[in-house]
Amino acid sequence: MYPKTPPMGFNTWNTFAENISDEMIRQTADAMVEKGLLDAGYNYLVIDDCWSEKERDPVTGKIVPDKKKFPNGMRAVADYVHSKGLKFGLYSCAGIRTCADYPGSYDNEYLDAKTFAEYGADFLKYDYCYKPPYANGALLYRRISLALQNSGRDILLSACNWGADDVHHWIRSTGAGMYRSTGDICDKFESFRDIFISQIENAKYAGPGCFNDIDMLTVGMHNRGNVARDGCTDLEYRTEFALWCMFGSPLMLGCDVRNMDDTTLALVKNPHLLRINQDEACRTPFVAQYEGNNLRNVYARLLSDGRIAIMFTNLSDNDKQWAWLALDSLGIPAPVKKGLRLTNAFTGEDEGVFKEYIQLPVGAHDCAVYIAEVVD
Ligand code: GAL
Repeated sequence: MYPKTPPMGFNTWNTFAENISDEMIRQTADAMVEKGLLDAGYNYLVIDDCWSEKERDPVTGKIVPDKKKFPNGMRAVADYVHSKGLKFGLYSCAGIRTCADYPGSYDNEYLDAKTFAEYGADFLKYDYCYKPPYANGALLYRRISLALQNSGRDILLSACNWGADDVHHWIRSTGAGMYRSTGDICDKFESFRDIFISQIENAKYAGPGCFNDIDMLTVGMHNRGNVARDGCTDLEYRTEFALWCMFGSPLMLGCDVRNMDDTTLALVKNPHLLRINQDEACRTPFVAQYEGNNLRNVYARLLSDGRIAIMFTNLSDNDKQWAWLALDSLGIPAPVKKGLRLTNAFTGEDEGVFKEYIQLPVGAHDCAVYIAEVVD
């Protein structure tokens, strides 16, 4: 399955880790539909690590679901998820064991792909722990990709090797539909800031068919769950979500969607930000104004309808920094006397026409995002 725009959904890891169950997955599926997340585009419900028994079935050699967590088996869970109109995702690993020490798929790729297809999977996150050092990473991702393509189901491969081994240079050749490019995120401003900054230069490797996954969102976690570290403010989550949207990352929610507050829900369903993220042209965002240390850059991204998404960032701790952008740096020279009409992506409000330059204050950890139209 080669996605045309960044995949969207929910993944269990950030909040739940090993605390997953049949009941929790069904409740999450219900919540994704009831809260309008499916309608907004979040259609994958992915179970991350820790879903299987610690050892393979001694007779069939198959990976089998944990009988306590999933007493009805995995097919029953997948059927329920599908009955809600969602797609179902599972997790395995290119190595001998998964990162949390469950069976990995190394040397069992074809059997496992078939098993995951039998369980009803539409998505497979594929990790990199316990990979034998002599094994070639690209080859292992190619193996599982071909195994999935010949499993009888259309299954999106989500590679997860944390940006190791120059993955952006070869991942597209493996058939993966998205790939994790960074180490694990945690629920803290500095974590998403540093992860984002590490990928500014790698944005050019992403595009239709294979997207750079900057990691599952911590938006709305509020310091609860597996990767909780201090939590973020709503303003910081807003910045995180806007960065992920601007840079065309897959949008995998990591908070407990069953208990999402209204602010988080409105943010992740924001139509303007999702419009930018899901733009069909998937153009690479570029640095329109560089501020020396990547903390206060201005980014721009050409959209398929001729408009331009513009994002002013202040990822520094200094409040009330003035952000400035010459329209010339977007390709609008002052002598042509054209301007930009700005729609505020957070509020949907028309902020009027700006000529020659845009200047505005941006507070610490905050950002401003506009969709701009060239006008006379
Ligand atoms: C890590 C991965 C995380 C999560 C975890 C599960 O390697 O980056 O996103 O999947 O393994 O053990």
